[in-house]
Amino acid sequence: MSGVRPERREVDEAESLRANRADWDAYADEYQSTHGEFLGDHGFLWGPEGVREDDLHALGDVEGKDVLEIGSGAGQCSRWVLVHGGRPVGIDVSMRQLQHSRRIDEEHRVVVPTLCASAAGMPFGDATFDVVFSAFGALQFVADAEALVADVARVLRPGGVFAFSITHPTRWMFPDDPGEEGLVASQSYWDRTPYVEVDDVTGETRYVEHHRTLGDWVGALAHCGFRITDLHEPEWPAEHDRTWGGWSRVRGMLTPGSAVFVARLDGPRPGRAT
Ligand SMILES: C[S@@+](CC[C@H](N)C(=O)[O-])C[C@H]1O[C@@H](n2cnc3c(N)ncnc32)[C@H](O)[C@@H]1O
Repeated sequence: MSGVRPERREVDEAESLRANRADWDAYADEYQSTHGEFLGDHGFLWGPEGVREDDLHALGDVEGKDVLEIGSGAGQCSRWVLVHGGRPVGIDVSMRQLQHSRRIDEEHRVVVPTLCASAAGMPFGDATFDVVFSAFGALQFVADAEALVADVARVLRPGGVFAFSITHPTRWMFPDDPGEEGLVASQSYWDRTPYVEVDDVTGETRYVEHHRTLGDWVGALAHCGFRITDLHEPEWPAEHDRTWGGWSRVRGMLTPGSAVFVARLDGPRPGRAT
């Protein structure tokens, strides 16, 4: 059985998409069986700390609103939107994740419309949605985050809300290890060179993650006409003892693991990014 080796190098949109689509198709069954119960079939979890939309109210009232979820996975968050009276649509690059979405829909006799598409170049018209959100969805997986933010501004109606959670950018400095090793800074926060995993037999790119600093995200949002209304950095709850990848109690009690940006489209809507 082949393994992967980590690399740091520039990766374009096409290579990022190819690698991450295959990775999520292969990982989807394990992801859903490991985390499905914690996510909840119509739960809205913002991150491994366990903070939920019922606590954060980042989206505001979704009743009667058109809501797009980017990187919707098995649609748990979109189903929460449906339960709360909104009209959700999910996009995801992984057909296997979307098959899980359909499976859960059928179990609950509901329908969350979904599209198999990348967040990079979304197939929607201008000013289509009142709310766009992503809970640890695609934002870390696209090469050009600035173009994605511009595209979100394009598909949002004026005054619309954009909320997204990502790995807290400061975690980039540390090894992705849930134990004590993961508390020792070993690489530069400012080095945006993507993290890449390469199949050590075939040489194929198997996984790509892109990094932006907090300042990069603030700049991308501000330049596209967004006003940031909140930046949540959920604390690790004292009683919470669930390890999820590099997220753990050991690290969570000392360093932030997730960042949830909430922004409103105030400014003029920019043209589509090229
Ligand atoms: C960590 S999961 C989060 C899914 C869901 N929000 C949840 O909490 O389970 C990340 C999702 O983003 C999707 N994804 C990765 N790259 C993407 C891209 N470029 N465009 C759209 N979705 C993408 C993956 O297929 C996966 O379903």
